[in-house]
Amino acid sequence: MNPWAARRARLALAMEPGAVAVLATAPEALRNGDSEYPYRHDSYFYYLSGFTEPESVLVLVAARGDLPARSILFCREKNVERETWEGFRYGPAAAREAFGFDEAFPVAELDAQMARLLADVPAVYYANARDAAFDAQVAGWLKAVRGQSRSGVVAPARIQHLLPLLDEMRLLKDAHEEALMAKSAEIAGAAHLRAMRAAKPGMFEYELEAELLYEFRRNGAQFPAYTPIVASGANACILHYNANNARTRDGELVLIDAGCEFDSYASDITRTFPVNGVFSAPQRQLYELVLRAQDAALAAIQAGRPYSDFHEAAVKVLAEGMLDFGLLDRAKYGGVENVLAERAHTQFYMHGTGHWLGLDVHDAGAYRDLAAEGKPSRPLMPGMALTVEPGIYVRPAPGVPEQFWNIGIRIEDNVIVGEAGPQVISGTAPKTVAEIETLMGGQ
Ligand code: GLY
Ligand code: MN
Ligand code: MN
Repeated sequence: MNPWAARRARLALAMEPGAVAVLATAPEALRNGDSEYPYRHDSYFYYLSGFTEPESVLVLVAARGDLPARSILFCREKNVERETWEGFRYGPAAAREAFGFDEAFPVAELDAQMARLLADVPAVYYANARDAAFDAQVAGWLKAVRGQSRSGVVAPARIQHLLPLLDEMRLLKDAHEEALMAKSAEIAGAAHLRAMRAAKPGMFEYELEAELLYEFRRNGAQFPAYTPIVASGANACILHYNANNARTRDGELVLIDAGCEFDSYASDITRTFPVNGVFSAPQRQLYELVLRAQDAALAAIQAGRPYSDFHEAAVKVLAEGMLDFGLLDRAKYGGVENVLAERAHTQFYMHGTGHWLGLDVHDAGAYRDLAAEGKPSRPLMPGMALTVEPGIYVRPAPGVPEQFWNIGIRIEDNVIVGEAGPQVISGTAPKTVAEIETLMGGQ
């Protein structure tokens, strides 16, 4: 069974017997005039179908009694003329065969078929309140089914939100996903390595961005997973900087946050390095602090420990360093406990230490145990995939030692939780001061 069919089977088991789930892929989007953005399918739809063509809808019917579960794809028909302009499309028959659906129909038949498929079923699951046009389409089907009530047809009594079920499934990666994520991280790691090798003072940030994009694409990654951040000097203190148009200057650090999407799976890696190949003393002090924070965070990534532990571990190390280096006044705070209680560290470290990673860069799945009293942070489990990305960002401010001004550092790796601890899948690009300086020929 292909991995998508296996997921469909698992979802069907989680549904009410005989219920129907409906999931549409993403719409195409115009960029301007008649040219479109590169098409990207919906992640939930892909997770269950493996099918990447637009104008597709998946219907899943859960087993009931002797009737087995069924999966049905609606997709574009073969069309010689359109394929001449736009390229290959599977068409229902070949898609059914290639992706293991039980049935497939032209998407033009969706409305007519849904009025049939939703007749006499107890519940319909769909991603409601996500897309107004789809909500209206489902409402139309339900109305059509209710319209048959005088002939004895019963309409679904319950409407369920589909995505929470899928969010929980997507959180635990299967072997197919783990392999794709490792490949995505390997390519992105190689891209960071390439950018480090290419870096020279005076280069524009976009020249380094071009190195990243080249390495992504030449290894078969279809897209960047998000707009790369290539931030030199003070730009690194802007968390979502992506203008990438400044000229790098001798003595500055460059922070690159870039990941690719390989066969729909994202990587999300950050490296920070001196553009001239050698860290200055203050850069090195803060860099090694962030690295220690990352080590502490990684050590807290263990199956069974709450998700929040690794952020707390990183923050503690960073806060200690802020006191040690005079970024925060020890006379004022006394110790790290007061820094944390007053959240004083957020002047220099204002984001979380990670997030789920998968089909989306910020992947699906709750961070808390939503069913438990007080909704505590959920325990980590083998198969969860996340980023670990501590940083420090020092904007000029009164009382902040000047030697640290405008230094921005983040170190971000991708991790899969294993039985025996974290498995770092993004280790290609160097990370220690010695490794970076050696690679860049600075020492
Ligand atoms: N690149 C987005 C993030 O680090 O979360
Ligand atoms: Mn990230
Ligand atoms: Mn990132």
